[in-house]
Amino acid sequence: MVFLLSQTMESKFVICSALFLAWLTLVNGSPASVQVGELTKAKNVSWSSYNFKTILSWGPKPVNYTYTVEFSRAGRDKQRNPHCIRSTETECDLTNDLDVKGVYTAEVLSESLHGMTSDHVEPPYTRSKQFCPYNDTLIGRPEFKFTTSEDKKIVLIIQDPITALHKDGRSLNIRDIFKKNLKYRIAYNKAGSTGKKTMTVDESRVEFSRLDEDQSYCFSVAAYIPSRKGDKMFGDWSLPKCSPQENKTLIEEYGLAVIGGGALIILAFVIAVIVLIVVCCKRAQRQKTLAKETLV
Ligand SMILES: *[C@@H]1O[C@H](CO)[C@@H](O)[C@H](O)[C@H]1NC(C)=O
Ligand SMILES: *[C@@H]1O[C@H](CO)[C@@H](O)[C@H](O)[C@H]1NC(C)=O
Ligand SMILES: *[C@@H]1O[C@H](CO)[C@@H](O)[C@H](O)[C@H]1NC(C)=O
Repeated sequence: MVFLLSQTMESKFVICSALFLAWLTLVNGSPASVQVGELTKAKNVSWSSYNFKTILSWGPKPVNYTYTVEFSRAGRDKQRNPHCIRSTETECDLTNDLDVKGVYTAEVLSESLHGMTSDHVEPPYTRSKQFCPYNDTLIGRPEFKFTTSEDKKIVLIIQDPITALHKDGRSLNIRDIFKKNLKYRIAYNKAGSTGKKTMTVDESRVEFSRLDEDQSYCFSVAAYIPSRKGDKMFGDWSLPKCSPQENKTLIEEYGLAVIGGGALIILAFVIAVIVLIVVCCKRAQRQKTLAKETLV
């Protein structure tokens, strides 16, 4: 009987302590769950990338919580950037964390300020779209200048845009990265005419052999990467820039009389100066010889 009683008491005790434990965990757990309730999921998680400078951004500004960014290549471990852990910013610069040819997704996790939730409750997160620097970064407008070849043809010298990436202490340009996949599309027209022509070139130096020599032409240039999809194939177009016209047109512009008159004035001035110098020299010489004679 005593034995039985003690058994029921024991089982009661077990039940009670189990209940107490359950209550304890509830109480312990509740601050965390309240905090989870206050966490807001990141919205509008999006990539923006220009000349390989790549930034992940999202919203809204956090109040009483932080964001942590995790990113990974398909099928590989998650990585973090130390600047984007428990951060109150709403963007993360991943420029130097991504392999150029990798395909990445990122997750923006919302975490409470003190990190009490981390082990038990998965923080709410929002996943980005896929991003591949090689295929998705926008390429800025290239700069270019004119020279002329020996036979007076127009030559375009295009500067490969510099990227935000470095190797061995040197900035890489887009040709370092795209190599044979980099081409340029050039659009041009005779100055004053609207008929545009386009051509695609492999090199950064382009000689135009079939243009009228004494005409001005206007050019604009964009990087062209045919291995990409859709509108990602083209970088930004440069503003149009026109080749200088031949000297002949100076006469056309100002008229022969004005230019001839100018030349005459300059010529007269030069002659006057020469005459002046000659006269001065002669006078000096004469004085010298006079001085010598008086000495003797
Ligand atoms: C998300 O983007 C939409 C439209 O671009 C904007 O109206 C909204 O405010 C953004 N939300 C956040 C949290 O940034
Ligand atoms: C943030 O925390 C502070 C201090 O704990 C509190 O006073 C404030 O109301 C909180 N703000 C929000 C939006 O929860
Ligand atoms: C880039 O896009 C092309 C065309 O969709 C695809 O064939 C190629 O694999 C992509 N490159 C990378 C590095 O993902």
